[in-house]
Amino acid sequence: MFISFEGIDFSGKSTQVKLLESYLKKQNKKVKLIREPGGTVISEKIRNILLDKENNSMVIETEIFLFSASRAQLVREVIRPCLEDGYYVISDRFHDSSTAYQGYGRGLSVDSIVKINNLAIGNTVPDITFFIDISNEEAAERKAKTSMADLDRIEISDENFFERVRNGYLEIAESEKRFRVIDGTKSVKEINEKIISEINILEGVNK
Ligand code: ADP
Ligand code: TYD
Repeated sequence: MFISFEGIDFSGKSTQVKLLESYLKKQNKKVKLIREPGGTVISEKIRNILLDKENNSMVIETEIFLFSASRAQLVREVIRPCLEDGYYVISDRFHDSSTAYQGYGRGLSVDSIVKINNLAIGNTVPDITFFIDISNEEAAERKAKTSMADLDRIEISDENFFERVRNGYLEIAESEKRFRVIDGTKSVKEINEKIISEINILEGVNK
């Protein structure tokens, strides 16, 4: 099964990804955790270029191609072989991040992003995608607890940007059956339980 997590920065994705990983491992499942951008030697090099605050002259077109290049490599080098080998692949962000951030957030046409995504991932689309939804006010409160030095090039974007990204995700969620919108203001435990129950439902359906 291929599972992706989406949401604006600070929504709690990494926390939930780790909890799901340990749950599945306790069930003796083979689990491969990946984070985007990154996950292969080439993709990690691309990640460094993308998140480097010195690269503030990067144009949007470069940004979408770099994210997609990193993903294309990850899909072929890691995700497909793992899925074929019976792994649960859990990805902290995947192609919906490009639609939400570079499309709805930065303003590139969503149509062209869908085409670029298609070239990068082909039919390697997640079976289920958890969109952990929090408001921008909540994100700002969590962000305030993080030192500015720890924020990357994209995390230092203004709040209007994240508002567009969040609304973009909500729009994608309406059109994609694989999306599950999760209230990210619930406790870490409640969110984890909801995610596990959705996965169990999906597995029941697929049996
Ligand atoms: P992301 O990977 O989406 O950026 P993290 O999992 O790193 O998010 O969480 C961002 C911050 O929010 C961390 O300080 C984390 O402890 C906190 N956090 C995560 N989940 C919750 C939750 N359900 N309620 C309150 N705070 C949370
Ligand atoms: P990361 O540190 O992985 O953020 P997080 O912990 O919130 O997932 O940095 C990834 C940043 O890149 C994040 O701000 C979202 C952004 N991003 C895009 O803009 N487009 C994409 O396609 C992806 C995968 C990430």
